[in-house]
Amino acid sequence: MNSRAERPNRREPTMADPLDTVTEAARSRLVDTLLADGAITSPAVEAAFRRVPRHLFTPSGVSVVAAYADDVVVTRRGPDGYATSSISAPWLQAAMLHAAHLQPGARVLEVGSGGYNAALIAEVVGPHGMVTSIDIDPAVIAHARTALDTAGYPHVAAVHADADEGWAAAAPYDAIIVTVETSDIPPAWTDQLAPDGVLVTPLRMRGHTRCLTLVRDGVHLVATNALVCGFVPMQGAGAAPVRQHQLRGDDVTVFVDDPVTEALDLRALPAALDGPRHDAWSPVTTPPGIPFDTLHLWLASQPHPHGLLAVDRQRAADLAPQNWGACPALLTADSIAYLATRQLDDTTWQFGAHGYGPRATTLTSRMLDLIAAWDRRHRHPPGPHIAVYPTDTAPSPTNHLRLLIPRPHTTIAITWTSNGQPA
Ligand SMILES: C[S@@+](CC[C@H](N)C(=O)[O-])C[C@H]1O[C@@H](n2cnc3c(N)ncnc32)[C@H](O)[C@@H]1O
Repeated sequence: MNSRAERPNRREPTMADPLDTVTEAARSRLVDTLLADGAITSPAVEAAFRRVPRHLFTPSGVSVVAAYADDVVVTRRGPDGYATSSISAPWLQAAMLHAAHLQPGARVLEVGSGGYNAALIAEVVGPHGMVTSIDIDPAVIAHARTALDTAGYPHVAAVHADADEGWAAAAPYDAIIVTVETSDIPPAWTDQLAPDGVLVTPLRMRGHTRCLTLVRDGVHLVATNALVCGFVPMQGAGAAPVRQHQLRGDDVTVFVDDPVTEALDLRALPAALDGPRHDAWSPVTTPPGIPFDTLHLWLASQPHPHGLLAVDRQRAADLAPQNWGACPALLTADSIAYLATRQLDDTTWQFGAHGYGPRATTLTSRMLDLIAAWDRRHRHPPGPHIAVYPTDTAPSPTNHLRLLIPRPHTTIAITWTSNGQPA
């Protein structure tokens, strides 16, 4: 292949090569941005980002600018056009590297490959460490292998395997870094994790995905950190797509991700949207630009049936949800209430709820109560306690502030506390 013509960002660098200067300058700018944003907080992670040439891992045709933007680069799409593989955004890769507490000499399994992140890990763990990167897509592994070799990482293993099985041959691992969205923790991961190892994984809980840093606490895992994130969905044995209900064709969809809500017959719900919208506003407000992701998780943590509403901004503007892509909603068989916000002035946004259907008033008022409770007790750190139990050791739902989400291999428990005590 003529790499110069077909892959303009893939040339072998030489000292005199102007492309080399361009990519190094772009890489340097990216690292400076990640440092300024607080995404990189350790010298080891900074050194890794400064060394690994990200453009060597992007598909042909991706510009140097795009290769070194603090953004996702999609590398493969399925027949439906949705991304099945990507190079994750650098800020998130940096966060996950920090979360994994990687030390020189560590043994690491990366689940979901592409090569770039595996090379970053290899830099952090150094010459005495060991990195194995697995992917279910043989084309991803073939690409990762070539790019890793080209970039100078022939010692990183790229293996075609399903995440569900992990990779026992190189276990135990001091860290397992999962870079694909999962709704469960397969036993292979905990079996292959060293006793004091760290599992960093994007875990979907009632549709809300958080990148959890999980460590062992007896037979179960506890999260020491939870970061809002998004990843391509798991394929293979652990695939568990979220169930979708179209309420107004493709324009309004509700996503359902737990057995309680899945048991609800939602066939009457689309008719609710033909009626008037009921609005209710809360005294709780927020300044612009301040994240309130714990409010989303708090609304999802209720025993009440819950869904995530996705609304086409152009074709269904009348619904005006707080979040057009994924807005928390309380559901009954014939009614829905979802989170809303409105701007009161330059510094104040007000929370509220919009509802449709015969039970709209009850549901919106329930949502306002929940917003008030979040504001009083859960708005500020530490946020919820999240633990993952092997199914046969799951705790009982002892109080109404503990949500249990049963999955095939584990039960996820989300417990809300106030000042460290169950609220
Ligand atoms: C976001 S990409 C990985 C990004 C990569 N770690 C990087 O360098 O940025 C997620 C990958 O997970 C893979 N994947 C999906 N389901 C999988 C499974 N069951 N087992 C292994 N890999 C899987 C996809 O093929 C995709 O390449």
